[in-house]
Amino acid sequence: MMKIDENSPATIYLHDYRSPAFLVEKIELDFDMHESATLVSSKIQFYLNPDREGRLEPLSLHGEALQLLAVAIDGEPLAAGEYVMTDEGLDIPVVPNRFVLEVKTQIDPVHNTSLEGLYLSNGNFCTQCEAQGFRKITYYPDRPDVLARFRVRVEADQRYPVLLSNGNLVEQGKLGNERHFAVWDDPFRKPSYLFALVAGDLVCLEDHYQTGSGRDVLLQIYVEARNQNYCEHAMRSLQQAMRWDEEVYGLEYDLDRYMIVAVDDFNMGAMENKGLNVFNSKYVLAHPDTATDSDYLGVESVIGHEYFHNWTGNRVTCRDWFQLSLKEGLTVFRDQQFSADLNSAAVKRIDDVRVLRQFQFPEDAGPMAHPVRPSSYVEINNFYTATVYNKGAEVIRMMATLLGRERFIAGVRLYLERHDGQAATCDDFVAAMEEAGKTDLSTFKRWYRQSGTPKIHFEQDYDPLARTFRLRVSQSCPATPGQPDKEPFLIPLAVGLLDESGNDLPLRLEGEPAAGDGTRVLELQESTQEYCFQDIPCRPVVSLLRGFSAPVQMTTVVDAEDLAFQLVHDSDPFNRWEAGQKLAVSELLRNYRELAPGRDFSLSPVFMEAWRRALADRSTDRSFLTQLLTLPSEQYLADQLDEFDPQQIHGVRMAAYRALVGANEDLLKERYAEAADPGRGYRLDPESVGRRALANFCLTQLLQLPSPEKIALGLVQYHEARNMTDRLAAFTALINTDIDGRDELLDDFYRQWQAHPLLVDKWFSLQALAPREQTFAEVKRLLGHPKFNPANPNRVRSLLGAFAQNMLAFHQPDGSGYQLLRERILLLDQNNAQLSARLAGPFTRWQRLEPIRRQAMKKELEIMQKSRLSRDLYEIVNKSL
Ligand code: TRP
Ligand code: ZN
Repeated sequence: MMKIDENSPATIYLHDYRSPAFLVEKIELDFDMHESATLVSSKIQFYLNPDREGRLEPLSLHGEALQLLAVAIDGEPLAAGEYVMTDEGLDIPVVPNRFVLEVKTQIDPVHNTSLEGLYLSNGNFCTQCEAQGFRKITYYPDRPDVLARFRVRVEADQRYPVLLSNGNLVEQGKLGNERHFAVWDDPFRKPSYLFALVAGDLVCLEDHYQTGSGRDVLLQIYVEARNQNYCEHAMRSLQQAMRWDEEVYGLEYDLDRYMIVAVDDFNMGAMENKGLNVFNSKYVLAHPDTATDSDYLGVESVIGHEYFHNWTGNRVTCRDWFQLSLKEGLTVFRDQQFSADLNSAAVKRIDDVRVLRQFQFPEDAGPMAHPVRPSSYVEINNFYTATVYNKGAEVIRMMATLLGRERFIAGVRLYLERHDGQAATCDDFVAAMEEAGKTDLSTFKRWYRQSGTPKIHFEQDYDPLARTFRLRVSQSCPATPGQPDKEPFLIPLAVGLLDESGNDLPLRLEGEPAAGDGTRVLELQESTQEYCFQDIPCRPVVSLLRGFSAPVQMTTVVDAEDLAFQLVHDSDPFNRWEAGQKLAVSELLRNYRELAPGRDFSLSPVFMEAWRRALADRSTDRSFLTQLLTLPSEQYLADQLDEFDPQQIHGVRMAAYRALVGANEDLLKERYAEAADPGRGYRLDPESVGRRALANFCLTQLLQLPSPEKIALGLVQYHEARNMTDRLAAFTALINTDIDGRDELLDDFYRQWQAHPLLVDKWFSLQALAPREQTFAEVKRLLGHPKFNPANPNRVRSLLGAFAQNMLAFHQPDGSGYQLLRERILLLDQNNAQLSARLAGPFTRWQRLEPIRRQAMKKELEIMQKSRLSRDLYEIVNKSL
C-alpha cells in the first residue's frame, strides 16, 4: 500500500484533467550558452483559452531547478508581490486575456546529472524534454496540450561550432569574443516536450531524400569526430523508413531538413524532437567490425521508430501523459511492421512476442501493473513501460487484425487528418478506427482501461458422425492493483485446423453458406463462447492464436503429440515456434518439479526427437530454425510458476541444453560447418543473418560441454572472425566456460576495443551475465573498474542491469546480490532518478520468489523505503511493498 504522509509525492489522476487556462501563440527563446551558467530568455505570447472566456484565471507555469532573473508582462517588470513561487514553478495571479510574458532564467547544464533538460554529454550541450524536461530550461506551461510556434536563437563559444534546434535554419553568424550564433524557426506548432537544442563539436554525415511528391530533404547525422565512419547504416535506415511510410501509409516528411544527433549519455533509446532527433549513440553507430546483427536491427528499428513519430506523435500529439500509448503504442506497431517488411516477418514477430513475454507479462502480473492508458501516476517517467509501448502496440495490432489492413490504414489516415496539429486522446484514435472500419469498438476499448494479461482456456470435441468440430473458448483475467474484477475483453483469435497430413482445412461455421480457407479470426467477447466447425473429415489439430493475434496467455495444456505435429506442419510460422516452446516449457517444468537430490534430469523421447528433427531440417530458413531451437528464457519459465527458485530454474534450463547437445554433437558440428562464414564481406540480408545466427547458436551450444577440440573451434572463430557478430558470439560462448586462458581472452577483447564505449558496455555486460559461480565477485570487482562510470546510463545498465538479470549471480541465497543492487540504486538515485527507478525493476517481483529470497528482497525494499528517495524511486518502492 502507498503510505500517505505530507512528504509523499502527490498522485496525478486522469479524471482531474482540465484544459489549459492559457494557450501559447508563439515562443521566442534565446540561449546564451555557458557550461555552468546558461542564460535563457523567453518571450511568450499567451492568450486565454477560449473555453475559459469571461473567467479570471491565474497563469501557472512549470519550472524546476531554475534561477529566476527577471519576469515582465507586456514590457513591465513584475514587482515582488505580483508573482508567487510554488512547489511546481511560478504563478502569476492576475494577467490580461492576451499578453506577452518575458522571463529570464539561469541554468547550470554542467551539474545537471539527471540527463533531463539541458545537459552536457562528452562536453557537448544537448537537451531531453520528454516528458517534463522543458521546465528545467525555463518557466512554461510544460504540458503536451499547449502547442506553440518556436523560434530559437542560440549563442555559444566557437568551441561549439555546431548550433542546432528544431525546424529551419534562418540565420547564423559570427560575433565578437570568439562567439557565434544561429537562429532556428520551426513552422509547425508543437508542445514543449518536442523542443530540442544541441551545441557541440560534431561532424556531420549528409545525404538526401526525394519525397514522393518530388521535394528534396536534407538528411544529416551529427556525431563526435571519432564516430564519423559509423553512420552509414543509420542513414540507409532513415531513407528506408521515409520510403516505407510513404508506400504503406502515404505519409511524407514535412520539413526540408531531418537531423539526428548521437550522444553517449542518454536515459532511453532516442527522442523524436521535431526535425532534430537526439539518439543514444547505441542506436546510431554501426559498423561490421563493432556492431552485431542484432545491433544493426536495433538501429534500423529505432531510426524507424523516431521517424514514424513525425506523424504519430508530432503532427498529432497527446492531450495528456495518460494518453502516452496513443503515440507510443501506435509508433511501436509501425516500427514493428517496418522491420517485419525489411527482414524476416516470422522471426520479427517471434522476437516481438519474446519481448512482450519477457517484460510486459511480468509487469502486468506485478505490483506496478497498469492499463495501456493508466488512470493515475506519481511520476510520469515511470510509465514509459512495456505495457504502454509493447502491449499498446498489441492493442493497435488487434485493431488492424479486426479491421483488415486496408480499413486499418484508412483509419490511421482519418485519425491524422482529423487531428492534424492537435493534441488527441486514445478515444479519438479509436473513434477514427470505428468510422473507417464501420464497426463498433466500444467493448474492444476495455483493452485501454483494464490491466492484467487475460488467460484463455479451450476445450475441443470432434464428432466423426456429424463431422463437426466444437471449440469452446473461455477467458478470464486475474485481479491487478486497483482492479479486482474485470469485464471480458474482445479478443481476436486467429485459428486454423490441421488435417492429418498437416494441411489447413477449409473453415465453415454452423449457419454459414460457404467455407473460407486457411486462417480465420474469431471474435471472442463473452466469458465463454462455442464455435462449431462443419464438414470436418477427421479429428483436426487446432492451431489457435495464430501470429499471436492477442496479448493473452493460453493455459490449456495441449497433448505433446499434437504439439510435435504442429511444430512440423503448422502453416503459421509463429505457431510452429510456439508449439516447440510449449513442448519445451512442459519438459522443463516437469524436471523442475521433480528436481530432487539423486534424481536424474530427463527429456522425453517426443521432445528429443522434435528438437533433433528441427536441427536436421535443411529446408527451413536458418533464422527461423534458430528460434525453434532456442529454449524458453529463464524469466518465461519462472513466470509459469506461482513461486520459483531462480538458481534451480537456471539449472534446469542448462541441463536441458546439455542433454540436447550431448545427444546431437555431430549434427551440431555439421550444421556449424555448413553455416559458418562463407568468406564474403559482411552482408545484412536475411540469408546471411540466418547463417550467422544458426552457426553461432551451434557453437554456443557445443561449448556447453567444452572439450579441447571445441574450445579450439571457438578460439579460431574469435580470432579470425571478420565481423563483430561472429567474434562476439565466440567470445561469449568461451567466457561462459571455465577454460584456461579465460582472463587472457577478456583482456584481449578489452585491449582491442577499449576505445569503443559500446563494446566496453558489452564487455561489462557479458561478464555480468556469465552463468558462473564467480560472477558475483567479478561484478563487485568491475564496479571499481576505471571504465565503470555511474553517470553513464548505458554503462550502468551494462553492469548492474545485466547483473540483475543473472539468475545465478543476482539471486544469492543469502540476499547479498540484492543488497549490492540496493546500495547502488540508492547512490544513483541522488543523480539520475529515471535510471535508479528503472534499475529497481527487478525488486518489484519479490513476491514471486521462494520464501527465503522473498524475505531477503523485501528487506532491501524496506531499507529503500526508509531512505530519502526521488519521486521516481519512491513510487516503485512503495507500490511494491
Ligand atoms: N519518446 C521517446 C521514444 O519513444 C522516449 C524517450 C526518449 C523518453 N527519452 C526519454 C521518455 C526520456 C522519457 C524520458 O522514442
Ligand atoms: Zn516512441
